[in-house]
Amino acid sequence: MYLESLKLINFRNYNQLQLKFHPKLNVFVGNNAQGKTNILEAIYLTSTGKSFRTNKDRELIKFDKEQAYIKVEGKKRYTDTVVELKLEENKKKQIKVNGVTLSKNTDILNNVYVVVFSPEDLKLIKEGPSERRKFMDDEISQMKPSYFHYLTQYNRVLLQRNNLLKKIHHHKKYMDTLDIWNEKIIEIGTRIIIERAKFVTRIAPLSRLIHRKITENKENLEVKYISNIQLNNTFEETLESFRSRLKESLEVDLQRGTTTVGPHRDDLGVFVNGIDIRSFGSQGQQRTCALSLKLAEIELIKGETSEYPILLLDDVMSELDINRQKFLIKALRDVQIFITTTEREHLNDLNVDKEYVFYVKNAIVRKEKIESV
Ligand SMILES: Nc1ncnc2c1ncn2[C@@H]1O[C@H](COP(=O)(O)OP(=O)(O)OP(=O)(O)O)[C@@H](O)[C@H]1O
Ligand SMILES: [Mg+2]
Repeated sequence: MYLESLKLINFRNYNQLQLKFHPKLNVFVGNNAQGKTNILEAIYLTSTGKSFRTNKDRELIKFDKEQAYIKVEGKKRYTDTVVELKLEENKKKQIKVNGVTLSKNTDILNNVYVVVFSPEDLKLIKEGPSERRKFMDDEISQMKPSYFHYLTQYNRVLLQRNNLLKKIHHHKKYMDTLDIWNEKIIEIGTRIIIERAKFVTRIAPLSRLIHRKITENKENLEVKYISNIQLNNTFEETLESFRSRLKESLEVDLQRGTTTVGPHRDDLGVFVNGIDIRSFGSQGQQRTCALSLKLAEIELIKGETSEYPILLLDDVMSELDINRQKFLIKALRDVQIFITTTEREHLNDLNVDKEYVFYVKNAIVRKEKIESV
């Protein structure tokens, strides 16, 4: 799919902005703090309803204003999609898809498909397991909104079980209710584990192939879902292994007042030529692995939805060597790409056509270089 246009009112540093996009490549050039990432952030919001930088809607609304508005018009193979968001201080955001207000804001998923790659994504490899769980969860949710509901339920049930564990510590009488929460946690948790395992099984060969190409056959990338629950062939069997793990860990759980087994403790293993890249990879290797995973996600979304997602590349081109830049653009011929960069020269070797370039200066966006504002 691709986006035809974007409209912003009082979003971040923009008063009013209206842009028509190129179906292939759109490059935003400008100095620091001018409003380049803000545009990508607005696009991302129309896909997930959330920002990739903050959980606080207030930060998205222009400092001196009470409301912000975002609208995109997207083209898909068979349909068009219009997504609008209205953000208001101290209110739930209001989302419309094709003119109809959503009763549940999570229904925004599955309309605009977006993959982002930013320097932050290095965290995906470098930081703790929660970043990698988030990667799996976000990607699966985008393709399968029901997964997002399981996750929300799981987190709620987990919180309730943990609270109960703390209470039992003081009053044994609460022990009886624990079974109810145990059953819920294993039921929903097993669904999460199975979906994640499926996701990793599919993303593994895609990312390996892409990684091979980017590294000119030098590196073999392997990704593995690492679960503390034994994955078995059927749902029932996996459920059973979760049940027995939970039983085994009861004593420890009670002592610590928290649930120590389950998908909230899982991880995604990332290996290059057999070496754990999370601990031993160079910065460049880690970045390339993150990139391969993100690009694999593009193929996966295409396979699932028959639409290519939009790719947002925030500040990453200057960090890739020219071969990797070229590979990226060539491999993604059918994908609409939004790039931000501080120097057009960073993209010089790509022969970026004038028609793709937007200049951004102090929340003003123009097709010609802006000398002063
Ligand atoms: N709610 C807001 N209201 C008004 N201005 C805001 C708001 N939030 C952020 N800004 C301003 O937006 C600017 C940052 O925009 P953005 O992150 O898009 O910069 P950028 O062009 O991507 O810069 P860089 O090259 O440094 O990444 C800052 O000047 C910041 O003060
Ligand atoms: Mg930026």
